[in-house]
Amino acid sequence: MKDPFGHSFGHSTPRIDGIAKVTGAALFSSDEPVANPAFAYLVTSAIARGRIGGFSLDQARAVRGVLDILTFQNVGHQAKPAPGPDGKASTTSLESDRIWHDGQIIAIVVADTYEAAREAAHKVRVAYLAESPSATFDSPGIETEARRIERTPNPAKGDAEAAFASAAVRIEARYSTPAQHHNAIELFTTTCAWNGPKLTVYEPSQFMWGSKALTATRLDLDPDDVRTISRYVGGAFGSKGPNPRTAWVAIAARRVGRPVKLVPTRDQGFTIATFRAETRHHLKLGAARDGKLVSLSHAGWEVTSRPSGYNVAGVESTARMYACPNIATAVNVVHVDRNTPGYMRAPPETPYMFALESAMDELAYALDMDPIELRRVNDTQIDPVAGIPYSSRSLMECFDRGAERFGWGRRSAKPNSMFDGEWLVGYGCATACYPANIGPAAARVSISPDGKAIVAIAGHEIGTGAYTTVAVTAARALGLNVRDVKVNMGDSDLPPIVIAGGSNNTASATHAVVKACEVLRGRMAAAAVESSDSPLRGSDPDALTLANGRLTGINGEGESLDKAVMRTGYRLEAYAEYVPPGLPASAIADLTKGKVSILSGAARKDVTAYAFGAHFLEVRVHERTREVRVARVVSAFAAGTIVNPKTAHSQFMSGALWGLSSALLEAAELDLGTARYVNRNLADYLVPVNADVPTIEIIMLPERDDRVNPLGVKGIGEIGIVGMNAAVANAVFHATGKRVRELPIRLEQLL
Ligand code: MOS
Repeated sequence: MKDPFGHSFGHSTPRIDGIAKVTGAALFSSDEPVANPAFAYLVTSAIARGRIGGFSLDQARAVRGVLDILTFQNVGHQAKPAPGPDGKASTTSLESDRIWHDGQIIAIVVADTYEAAREAAHKVRVAYLAESPSATFDSPGIETEARRIERTPNPAKGDAEAAFASAAVRIEARYSTPAQHHNAIELFTTTCAWNGPKLTVYEPSQFMWGSKALTATRLDLDPDDVRTISRYVGGAFGSKGPNPRTAWVAIAARRVGRPVKLVPTRDQGFTIATFRAETRHHLKLGAARDGKLVSLSHAGWEVTSRPSGYNVAGVESTARMYACPNIATAVNVVHVDRNTPGYMRAPPETPYMFALESAMDELAYALDMDPIELRRVNDTQIDPVAGIPYSSRSLMECFDRGAERFGWGRRSAKPNSMFDGEWLVGYGCATACYPANIGPAAARVSISPDGKAIVAIAGHEIGTGAYTTVAVTAARALGLNVRDVKVNMGDSDLPPIVIAGGSNNTASATHAVVKACEVLRGRMAAAAVESSDSPLRGSDPDALTLANGRLTGINGEGESLDKAVMRTGYRLEAYAEYVPPGLPASAIADLTKGKVSILSGAARKDVTAYAFGAHFLEVRVHERTREVRVARVVSAFAAGTIVNPKTAHSQFMSGALWGLSSALLEAAELDLGTARYVNRNLADYLVPVNADVPTIEIIMLPERDDRVNPLGVKGIGEIGIVGMNAAVANAVFHATGKRVRELPIRLEQLL
């Protein structure tokens, strides 16, 4: 594979879809025009556990314009059960009379207008057979079990307990993180339209082919009859995978003989989709006097629903962060009467690295050591669990560059020793990491004699700038200007790519696109070297390159692209599939069936592949009110080849901002008696406003990684958030001398 990036940073390209987005020309799913739609409104459960004794629908049916009301009684058997995020049972469905959680979908009203559907939904009367629910950790009636080990055992080595007992310096602490919800600005919409046996689904999706496959399977349709479209997604963050709602909306559309559009409300989004579950952690770190770790134990507890064993098991990352001879880990799932949780931006690392990076900070103070130096003495180029090298690891370069830029040297070592008027000042830092994942992808690239290329891939623009990174990739590989590359994505009629999750999609897409471009280059080269009138006649076709709109030989001889294309025919098109080594050859075919295989950077046999980073921040805590303000942030990342620095910078920056938000503001609050969220809106579920956003400076370190994958691309979508919560807690400790081990950090914890 020819590497168009040369492992260097790409040229910074503004979003090619930027104008469409700011002018409203970009179509989000619920904007897609459908003829004569009916509107759906969800009826959700008012209890968290029990059964539905019966419905009384007369009042609802009497509302003018009501067309249909779907319940388990009339449609429950018409769709096969939808699996949850762990592939096992789901909890959000119309399948039976069973209530698994508050806010579960129990009926769908369809009407001529949204208003009529909403009015009728409020007139649906439900007789519940209620049982008392278990809300969360410590609630009566919860069931706790060790996570079912499916792929790999919990990371472990040596004898962590004995090493801890005899360690010179010991830290033992418990940490916790709250439930959080994605709260994308775009709601969880679904529109379904039938044309005879053909179904078109307009729905924001992180996995085009998966949404298509799941809908076909659940409704027993020929997959060729189902098309999903999702050209733009208004925020996903892990919440917009294949989901249980689609099939019910399709059934509704079939029953009323019209397209049906569902736009659930903001508060329904808290219970009809997945969320980040609350977690607890028990950390034990033992170290020698020089700071070297001798023992690391990390046990986690995660909330899940009654039927699902879903868990994120971030010990896979925390166990391999630092050199340590003795490691023990465990993960427990706690079943409660809530919806099944799911992926939310850096699902494992966000909560688990909070615990580890807070404990590392506590250890640094116990050792009277600079927190950066503690990371340095425990840095390693060998994964301590698997015993294999990292593909590349520039963690300390990130710390050193970040520290210099931040002015870490001005920090006074003692907590509660820096002031600015009435404000206590604190500096904090923490490690960021995220596995470099990659999955299978296919792409079709065509080029016409006028030098314009079209790339087709069923990729996902979830806000990350994917249209632009794909365009940049093809432009580089074909020697074209980015403006001459058109990208078609977000349509299951296009070649499949793995789910946009685990920050894999840039790595996955670029390899397929480059491979297809390489086929085009090869065809042009083969035709040129055989043409009697070409200056490239007789050249080695493998030595010909594409640059600046020309096909060029090693001595600079060559010809323009239009000639090179014409020699092969007027429109040159290639389809290519990329399957990362280590994944089954069937990986592309599997995608079309909705089955995902991802080469996880944390589970490779040859190398352990992660991107790394270091966060630095300054907090100010008011001496009397204890209000916490973040004054400034510097975050440095080394994440391999950066395909498009401009959009990458935005990803890192918004990730860091979400980390601040996650540390100081965000929590879905539960009423413990009813297992119901009480802040299901954007007024009470706190997210940062502009006044909460400090200066965030992002440093992108050049990093060349030949081992992670041919193009050296690591994921960047999620690493920004990881560790930021700990950096905030560490800075708050430095400012105040108070260690907060429970997120979010609020002023009442600092009184
Ligand atoms: Mo993500 S939580 O991998 O969209």
